[in-house]
Amino acid sequence: MARTVVVHSHRGGTGKSTVLANLALLLAAQGRRVGVVDTDIQSPTQDLLFRLPPGDGSLTDYLLGRCEIEAAAQRAAPGLYVVPARTGTKALREIMAVGYDVGLLPEGFDRLARTHALDDLLLDTHAGLNNETVAAMASADTLVIMARADRIDLSGVEESIALAGRLPCRRTLVMCMAPVGIDRERARRIADEVYGTPLAGILPYAPEMAALYGERIFAEAHPEHPLIDEFRHIITALDARDEVSRA
Ligand SMILES: Nc1ncnc2c1ncn2[C@@H]1O[C@H](COP(=O)(O)OP(=O)(O)O)[C@@H](O)[C@H]1O
Ligand SMILES: [Mg+2]
Repeated sequence: MARTVVVHSHRGGTGKSTVLANLALLLAAQGRRVGVVDTDIQSPTQDLLFRLPPGDGSLTDYLLGRCEIEAAAQRAAPGLYVVPARTGTKALREIMAVGYDVGLLPEGFDRLARTHALDDLLLDTHAGLNNETVAAMASADTLVIMARADRIDLSGVEESIALAGRLPCRRTLVMCMAPVGIDRERARRIADEVYGTPLAGILPYAPEMAALYGERIFAEAHPEHPLIDEFRHIITALDARDEVSRA
């Protein structure tokens, strides 16, 4: 059975999509079969990060009953399949106008995992809480909550944890865009003591990331960069199941 990992944050721009794409590539490079579903219909990213050509479908097409979810998955690397959120703005207008059956989301995730025999299913989400995001979180085995070290992001962490507490998933925190010289021990203590949630990684702000202009995925462009070690720490924390608290 596939392990489902959901990356979520209270606000946008924390690095969710970037981290998820890098984790996906690194996991696939380990020989695992990995699926990515971009559930961020409002502001899709994974199609751009993986430079997917317009394909036979998207998550939105699936939700509108126009294709099977597995048909919308595109092979982005060996063992890595990506379902884009949508293609074009017409589909967004349509789905906003007609709505969809939210039950199709967990059904689709299961079906994708089965048909592509996935080891890992990674779900990217829109920031905050909407139907797609909550449905993704409800499907999670592990929820990765991402936050910058600031008061507004951290208040959002409390909200995510309050919701995750009702879900049968494990959770972990990733601190992102960390300022140079951040006190790592203190950050770990706060995560443990204040949030009761282990810290899986502290991702520094990397100017090399901005310099990529989103043209390439960081793990491909800078395989030796220290940030990659942090991505690997997150994978280790996800694998070490006991270290991630059960809500
Ligand atoms: N560690 C980092 N250092 C510098 N820039 C980053 C880092 N992580 C992400 N970014 C940049 O931040 C922006 C927002 O990232 P994104 O993954 O789209 O966030 P989200 O999905 O949470 O909205 C992107 O331009 C991305 O390249
Ligand atoms: Mg995103």
